[in-house]
Amino acid sequence: MFKFGTLALFLLAMCAAPLQALEFTDCGSKTGKFTRVVIEGCDTTKSECILKRNTTVSFSIDFSLAEEATAVKTVVHGRVLGIDMPFPLHNPDACKDSGLHCPLEKNETYRYTATLPVLQSYPRVSVLVKWELQDQNNVDIVCVEIPAKIQ
Ligand SMILES: *[C@@H]1O[C@H](CO)[C@@H](O)[C@H](O)[C@H]1NC(C)=O
Ligand SMILES: *[C@@H]1O[C@H](CO)[C@@H](O)[C@H](O)[C@H]1NC(C)=O
Repeated sequence: MFKFGTLALFLLAMCAAPLQALEFTDCGSKTGKFTRVVIEGCDTTKSECILKRNTTVSFSIDFSLAEEATAVKTVVHGRVLGIDMPFPLHNPDACKDSGLHCPLEKNETYRYTATLPVLQSYPRVSVLVKWELQDQNNVDIVCVEIPAKIQ
């Protein structure tokens, strides 16, 4: 009985820790790979990033790529209740004002920076944010999924 209890507690501790921490999932990066994602004000010990309405959230994605990219486009969707909805951006051209100098060379690492307007009109829901950087052929250089909650 004592042994079982100890084992159960141990397993619980092992399982609980990674489940609670925030995870940035790769949702289909093709020619690149992200190594680090930083979101302003996001508590990574929580399971979701809180996005406050009527604010602009800035963040960065570090990535490397295996193919040259002459153009880079940002495409953002929010999945709510299984439905993907586009997030409009001020500046979808990732070669402009986003820390990238195009063309991107292969085998280099880059830091992309962006801001996401969280509009007052958005509903207060949990949303899976899918952030894609696409190359000149509309192929995903990186695709990052960020579990978030609009508040
Ligand atoms: C949104 O933010 C602006 C500027 O920070 C502020 O003036 C405005 O009152 C805010 N709107 C709401 C509905 O909170
Ligand atoms: C890029 O990296 C790969 C694997 O590390 C290597 O095989 C290739 O020669 C590199 N290409 C260039 C252009 O440096």
